[in-house]
Amino acid sequence: MMDPNDTAQLLIQALPYIRRFTGKTVVVKVGGLPMTDPVRARSLAKDVLLLHSVGIRPVLVHGGGPQIDEQMRRAGKQPEFRDGLRVTDAETLDIVRMVLVGKINRELVSALNALEPVAVGVAGEDGRLLETQPLDPRLGFVGKVSEVRAGLLEALLDDGLVPIVSTVGAGKDGQPYNINADDAARAIAVAMGAEKIIYLTGVPGLLADPSDPTSLVQRLSPGEARRRIADSGVTGGMIPKLQACAEAVEGGVRSAHMIDGRDDHGILVELFTDSGIGTMVCEAGGA
Ligand code: ARG
Repeated sequence: MMDPNDTAQLLIQALPYIRRFTGKTVVVKVGGLPMTDPVRARSLAKDVLLLHSVGIRPVLVHGGGPQIDEQMRRAGKQPEFRDGLRVTDAETLDIVRMVLVGKINRELVSALNALEPVAVGVAGEDGRLLETQPLDPRLGFVGKVSEVRAGLLEALLDDGLVPIVSTVGAGKDGQPYNINADDAARAIAVAMGAEKIIYLTGVPGLLADPSDPTSLVQRLSPGEARRRIADSGVTGGMIPKLQACAEAVEGGVRSAHMIDGRDDHGILVELFTDSGIGTMVCEAGGA
């Protein structure tokens, strides 16, 4: 049990952050994997509800790579990637939509609604929330977000609802596209002028030495993030995430965070304590 004095200190530490973030938009990107575990989904739902309860405007954005792979294998199809992007033929696109919109989105919506019925699932195709252009014909139906209709999300938030966004986009002609969820989350945060974007990942954050889990980089500027990427001081899966963080901040989002999605309530520790739990990208002296 924690000493009551320490508990009080912790609550008091949260006060300036609650005051600062009330009324602000916080985009949270979750991968698909943690959501296969109902305990994790419930824990995430509690965090989101807490943000909502103190007047923060949360927007949840999710992907679902591993579940798409699994579903493809079940359908007898072999997942294929080029430069980290999923080659998406018409049949794969169907599977992507089924898994993202039909399954993972529904699981997140029901986890939050079980606590408080505020969750509304929206796919990027709905009301052309995520307008998308094809990326490269060799990849099939893979797109890049060209425009975000943020007003749709703002309207839901104004109504006291919490949007949960599946990252399937649509072209002007209505054609759906598979889009990268990290990038879609970044585009949403920039378009909404969000205070924060938080990436829930499978690692503690950016490690100065990838083999040493205690070498967490707590804070860095977008310029420093880009330098580290260029100096190859950042390993594989971390590069696109760190890049998305830098781009978000360069696009006007006050801060971008990478935290371990496997830690229960990491979002709360990151937001409401001074030192946080993961890596924060922001302009020096900016946040
Ligand atoms: N709670 C503060 C915020 O959200 C500070 C977080 C610091 N986090 C870090 N990884 N250095 O702005």
